[in-house]
Amino acid sequence: MQPPPTLRWDQGRLFLLDQTLLPHHVVEVEQVEGEQVRESIRRLVVRGAPAIGVAAAYGLVVAVRPDADGSPEQVLAEVQRWATRLRSARPTAVNLAWALDRVEGAALRVRDAAADGLEVLAAMEAEAVAIHEEDVRCCRAIGEHGASLVPAGGGVLTHCNAGALATTGIGTALAPLYVAHERGVAFRAFADETRPLLQGARLTAFELAAAGIDVTVLADGAAPSLLGDGSVQLVVVGADRVAANGDVANKVGTLGVALAARHFGVPFYVACPSSTIDLATPGGAEIVVEERSSQEVTCFADQQVTPLSVRARNPAFDVTPAEMVSGIITEHGVVAPSALGTLLGDAEPS
Ligand code: MRU
Repeated sequence: MQPPPTLRWDQGRLFLLDQTLLPHHVVEVEQVEGEQVRESIRRLVVRGAPAIGVAAAYGLVVAVRPDADGSPEQVLAEVQRWATRLRSARPTAVNLAWALDRVEGAALRVRDAAADGLEVLAAMEAEAVAIHEEDVRCCRAIGEHGASLVPAGGGVLTHCNAGALATTGIGTALAPLYVAHERGVAFRAFADETRPLLQGARLTAFELAAAGIDVTVLADGAAPSLLGDGSVQLVVVGADRVAANGDVANKVGTLGVALAARHFGVPFYVACPSSTIDLATPGGAEIVVEERSSQEVTCFADQQVTPLSVRARNPAFDVTPAEMVSGIITEHGVVAPSALGTLLGDAEPS
């Protein structure tokens, strides 16, 4: 079965595919108010940095709509209140704050000239649609730039899900795989299961298999030995935030994959839109890593698996130092992590 779109904006109505239920149940849930959108982001109904950004952009429109009959100033106050509220849903994926800032900026730009609150809301919706359309274009461009890295007849390892389900296009890390597949390149994909929430086993496996790509799921701990035995010639992962020095925050477990890839001399690439690059954050040490509920670790499929008396830690992301990253694939091309500032300085807006 082909996965339905991660989200839909249908005549002013926001629908999210509930990714907590995949792959066994395909359910779309309409988001009718701001607190519901925040909870959907927090619970990972919608997840993956670019998809969170697009969902939040539309979510801000949904959240503010009940107050749109107020004056432009009143609407703007609601925009700022809701942007702060939605921004707090998840701290690590910078696309969340980036998208909210853009929609808030669109509201600010029209406030003084707007006849009423509805005009402010219309400007916000137009910005959210623009963010959505850009995401689709960025994913395709990342795929085109990265496809030649996919080794014909070889193996490609990925961690978590940075595919269509994590974006509103063809993904980031998985985009080069989709484009290579379209071009007739045969390869084998390996998906780390990605404990504790199994984005690799549930989501990456689902979407790659649906696209007809040969995919094998691994226990996370198996990845280093496959990197060592010649099964894998390329690692490509997504990112939630890339700091100015090229350090990369991505789903917990990515650092271990990077260490093993470096040890065995396998190229390790990160794919992300330039909106994930945060030049305001100097290095990985400054990236806030989300700590989620310990129950995600102590339970498996809602069954307690650890002794009740035992504590658990659940950092949802880790930071891979820039020197372990062979290159960053963005919509503008493939660059060394040390060249991010130049890339963004030179890049045309997408
Ligand atoms: O907790 P998640 O599922 O939102 O984590 C997702 C990841 O870590 C992805 O690799 C990252 O957001 C890139 S998505 C294109």
